[in-house]
Amino acid sequence: MPAHRVTAAAGFTSRRPRARPRAVLGAALVVWMAAGGARAGSAAAGGSAAGGSATGDETPFYLNSFGKTPSAAELSALGRTLFFDPGLSASGSLACASCHDPAHAFASPDARAVQRGGADRAQPGVRAVPSLMYEQNMPPFTEHFFDSDGDDSADQGPAGGTLWDGRAQSAHEQARVPLLSAFEMANSSSAAVVDKVLRAPYAAQFRRVFGTGVFDDRGLAFKAVLLALETFEESPDDFYPYSSKYDAFLRGTAALSAAEQRGLAAFDDPARGNCARCHPSAMREGAFPQFTDFGFAALGAPRNPAIPANANPRYYDLGLCGPLRADLAGRAEYCGLFRTPTLRNAARQRVFLHNGVFHRLEDVVRFYAERDTAPEKWYPRNAKGEVMKFDDLPPRYRKNVDEQPPFGRRAGGQSTLSDADVRDIVAFLRALSDGWAPARTSPRPSP
Ligand code: HEC
Ligand code: HEC
Repeated sequence: MPAHRVTAAAGFTSRRPRARPRAVLGAALVVWMAAGGARAGSAAAGGSAAGGSATGDETPFYLNSFGKTPSAAELSALGRTLFFDPGLSASGSLACASCHDPAHAFASPDARAVQRGGADRAQPGVRAVPSLMYEQNMPPFTEHFFDSDGDDSADQGPAGGTLWDGRAQSAHEQARVPLLSAFEMANSSSAAVVDKVLRAPYAAQFRRVFGTGVFDDRGLAFKAVLLALETFEESPDDFYPYSSKYDAFLRGTAALSAAEQRGLAAFDDPARGNCARCHPSAMREGAFPQFTDFGFAALGAPRNPAIPANANPRYYDLGLCGPLRADLAGRAEYCGLFRTPTLRNAARQRVFLHNGVFHRLEDVVRFYAERDTAPEKWYPRNAKGEVMKFDDLPPRYRKNVDEQPPFGRRAGGQSTLSDADVRDIVAFLRALSDGWAPARTSPRPSP
């Protein structure tokens, strides 16, 4: 494994966390069941406890304090209802699914860089809506990831946590954010959320699943909401079906096209795409690849003027070092770093990168190819006509930007990726969309 680092200053040598064995159940369910929350038999068939990444600290959340012990299937069904219910928002018109559209890998429904929310649905967000798929084994955030498969002593730096900056530790902790955020669903309190559930058509279902007294304690009822949402977000059929053409290829039941094969080779080649350095593409310990190492990196994405917050020239979204996450403020070596997203189903997404600056997969891959060799194509010029490379980062943080291949070539020089490589990589990325079905080779016999 090539040793790679985010920054010299950070003092860690490599940043590839361990790819976790594929668990049929997500981390939350594993802990929920271990804590006695649900009967094992009622969970998804073939559940394996491998890969649970939640820590012991999570156990109190999952301890069953309800009148009944809901099964995973009941929780997931209720979570699905909640996820699609616009009635859970202050505006009455914004569901989780309004921003996380299942037709687009549970990412942005349209090409807008940021979505609007709030009680009046006029409050713009500050980041692009990420896909919610393939997050079932996301490790909790840590500043020091140690790869237990390889050199145990190598600190790979920060990894894990949900949101672009890793600031939420779990899907249930995460779900609090949109429910209560002023620019998302904008509920004034967790009790306000519970009141909405109480009046919803599915209140009776809630009582059936959690016990008749579930609404007596508002805190407990809010926990029920979060647990149901989290369980739904770990439902394999919706969120991690592993049903792409590439998965069929890995299973040995499909062949990649010539372009897809060349794309995979360029994607993996350390001297060309070097993409697998952060978006691992190979099976590991029998686990299907997630196409993210859950680590953090600074790519130096161009500033996106379509984000209203960026109208203020002093506003910078610096990811790991803030301002949305506060605990690592002042850690200069972390400024500009965002969590590496999965590339599975990226071809279904309509906005890319944390600031939604790109709208076509081709453009993202071309940006990797040309960021350093042709920066004038990607960054605006200042009054003096100079290209403002890395214009979404204050100058003092630009040294954090990744410079290893495919980056690091000089302006005007030759990219590590040819035009053909770019096209082939895009073809390969398209083979990562779920729901692939082999073309029928022989016609179905007529009845
Ligand atoms: C107004 C649009 C909007 C709504 C509504 C919304 N989200 Fe999000 N969601 C976002 C954005 C934007 C982010 C990324 C924010 C960040 O990184 O700071 C996000 C991030 C997430 C993440 C983390 C994903 C990752 O890759 O780290 C999860 C999980 C999530 N949302 C679940 C939900 C759930 C559950 C609901 C409903 C209770 C919901 N969201 C409602 C916009 C929305
Ligand atoms: C140094 C680690 C690293 C390498 C190498 C890398 N990526 Fe990424 N990739 C990231 C990070 C981090 C992001 C998110 C950056 C941001 O939002 O600012 C990202 C985002 C993306 C996205 C957008 C996904 C989304 O949901 O918005 C695509 C597509 C992508 N990478 C493809 C590639 C390809 C193709 C290559 C090889 C040419 C590659 N990456 C190499 C770390 C890496």
